Amino acid sequence: MDINGASILVTGASGGLGAAMVRELAERGANLVLSARNVAVLDQLAAETGAEVVVADLANRADVERLAARAASCDVLVANAGIGSDPPLAELTSAAIDQSIEVNLRSPIVLSNAYAQARIAAGKPGQIVLIGSLSGLAASPGTRMYNATKFGLRGFALSFRQDLDGTGIGCTHVLPGFIRDAGMFADGDLDLPPGVRTKTPADVAAGVVRAISKNPAEVFVSPTELRLASTLGGLAPALSAAIQKKLGVADRV
Ligand SMILES: NC(=O)c1ccc[n+]([C@@H]2O[C@H](COP(=O)([O-])OP(=O)(O)OC[C@H]3O[C@@H](n4cnc5c(N)ncnc54)[C@H](OP(=O)(O)O)[C@@H]3O)[C@@H](O)[C@H]2O)c1
Repeated sequence: MDINGASILVTGASGGLGAAMVRELAERGANLVLSARNVAVLDQLAAETGAEVVVADLANRADVERLAARAASCDVLVANAGIGSDPPLAELTSAAIDQSIEVNLRSPIVLSNAYAQARIAAGKPGQIVLIGSLSGLAASPGTRMYNATKFGLRGFALSFRQDLDGTGIGCTHVLPGFIRDAGMFADGDLDLPPGVRTKTPADVAAGVVRAISKNPAEVFVSPTELRLASTLGGLAPALSAAIQKKLGVADRV
């Protein structure tokens, strides 16, 4: 998909990574539709990039349907919104569980499905970009809902892509590692073990550009060693848990 002149809807546009994607895509000539809840941040970004704003709470199912209707006429859907922080185990409530699932898992699935159905029915091509995480490959202590939803999102992305084969709709899963300078990791309290390298919001934006332009199955935005460690974590979860215990990861969250 050619980004220049394409209409692209980005969820989570008010966040650290979303804003970087929006600026990069605008620079490349995209016509953007920005979505999130924070109107002030969205309006500021829209003024900068000439974008349209659609305010939506992705934990609200009626808002998700409304956003899906707007996405249908876009060339590209970037489902980027997400909630990172998990409450401590003793404070995890059913409401918090629901919120994570609605925002991180249900909304990107509903948006992608409605988008693909509408584009296919209209005989138009399209591209779906789902922003996952290395947390969709390997589990860590203290991030149970984030892991649960990002594992789920990866499964959906990889299966949906196969279902869409031959329809003209692409589907790419983007997996950032730890991103410095802006976004949920940069804003959070996680203290990385020594030697763990990070990437930038601009690297994630470049990954999204690659996803839209080339439609690969997955785009990793992480140092190679972290991707390997995460892959190993998925293959050997007990070993991964033992290593993380040795590194004191639970105490660093
Ligand atoms: N930063 C990292 O290191 C990192 C690493 C791996 C993966 N990721 C993934 O990258 C994506 C973007 O994260 P980020 O780092 O940019 O996080 P962020 O700065 O915390 O931004 C999160 C975005 O999600 C939106 N959002 C949260 N709850 C929402 C809701 N109920 N309805 C609508 N929008 C909602 C927020 O908008 P409002 O608050 O305005 O609604 C905001 O735009 C996420 O999917 C995250 O899992 C990030």
